Parts: sequence; C-alpha cells; structure tokens
Amino acid sequence: MPPCRELEILDDAAAVAARAATLIAREVERARGAGLSLVLAGGTTPRAAYERLARAGLDWSGVAFYFGDERAVPAGHPDSNYRMAQETLFTPAGVAPGQVHRMAADGDDLEHAAREYERELPLHVDLLLLGVGEDAHTASLFPGSPAVLERDRRVLPVVGPKPPPRRLTIGAAVIEAARSTLVLATGAGKAAAMARALEGPLDPLALPIQLALGGHFLLDRGAAQKLGSGRSQEPERSKS
Ligand code: 6PG
Repeated sequence: MPPCRELEILDDAAAVAARAATLIAREVERARGAGLSLVLAGGTTPRAAYERLARAGLDWSGVAFYFGDERAVPAGHPDSNYRMAQETLFTPAGVAPGQVHRMAADGDDLEHAAREYERELPLHVDLLLLGVGEDAHTASLFPGSPAVLERDRRVLPVVGPKPPPRRLTIGAAVIEAARSTLVLATGAGKAAAMARALEGPLDPLALPIQLALGGHFLLDRGAAQKLGSGRSQEPERSKS
C-alpha cells in the first residue's frame, strides 16, 4: 500500500485530466461564496485538465489563483506557467485578472519577488496542484537542492536543472500546510520516480514529490507501471 493518502490509477492521460478536472470542480463548487485559494501546477501535464475546467461552466468568482512555481521569463513567454494557465483556463473561463496572483519571476530581483509573493500566499492554501518530474521533482524543488529542506521561507528563488533554470518556487512548508493536494503524473517517463516516491524509503531530499505524500495522487497506467504487484494493470483506487 503506497504511503500517499489516496492513489488512483487511470487508463491514460486523458482520464487523469478528466478526473483532475472533476475533483477540482468539486472543490470550486463546494467553496462557492466562501472563497477558495487554488495553487496551479506548471509544466504540460495539467494543460488538459485546465482546458476541461475552462469548459465546465463553473462559477470561478470566489477563486483566488496562485502558482506553485514560475520560470524567470516574461508573462507572455512560451515557457511561462502563467501564460499556460492564461491560455488554457483564465481567458476561456473568463477569470477576472484581479483573481490571479501571478508569480512575478521575470524581474531582476528574485529574492525580492519571492518575499513579495510569500506575503500574498495564504498560510494554508485550500487546494494545491502539483506535477512531478522524471527526477521526482515537484514545483521547482529539485532533488538534492537545499531548497527542498528549507522550512522558514515559503517562496524561494532557485536555479534548477530543468530549463529555464532560474525560477521561483513554493517551499516544503507550503506543500505541507496545504489543506488538500492533488498530484498529477502521466506517462512512462514518470514511472521510476513514482515507484521510488510511493514505494521506496522516505527521502524527500532525493525525491521532493514525497513532500506531498499527504495528497491525492492521480497516475495513468504509464506512470504507474513500475509500482509493485503490477498495479498498473487495472485502473484502481486505494486509500491509505
Ligand atoms: C515546472 C513545473 C514542474 C512540472 C514537472 C512536470 O514549472 O516545470 O512546475 O514541476 O510540474 O516538471 O512537468 P510536465 O508536466 O511537463 O511533465
């Protein structure tokens, strides 16, 4: 049994996107009127889920959007996580600009930008979305980086191995304080990282995604194929 709170193995990336959109939409609808702080993941995996959410006809008015990390590029750059979210979700869903707290990693002073964002970010975000790299990084917390062990600062400037290298990222304290966390991983390229993270010894410095083991993991069969007892053969759902 994996140590994460909940693990779902779904047929393919499209099924993961659909399930993620359903779970996120449920939180948005539950929070209607009360407000919801939603931290978006970057990279490519969440795109399809964001596109589905944009078409779901949800009332987004009570949602405050944040980012788990951002590359040190202008907001309109193809590598910008903000641009990806704007194209796939904010614009098509009609999200008002005032609801979006962009991580301004495109300035000259990333230290200052990190401290500014830390002031904007709620102490306990309601719903945190995370992706996973093939090296088991999450957000821009990369294996072996001292940033993974940082507990005092909640937003950090980092230089990582995944281009673009200069980034801002949430720290472990934000992940551990999140009220709910949803981790998305698809494709065989993530299989080794997921097997080590979910079934290997606890070592968050080597496997930063283990900081999110209190969360709900959504894997497709490709990303689950190295989990023990051939778990990826059948779609499944398990709670620890
Ligand atoms: C980033 C992401 C990063 C991402 C993983 C997976 O800015 O790069 O936040 O943590 O989630 O690298 O990326 P893919 O979804 O593209 O595989």
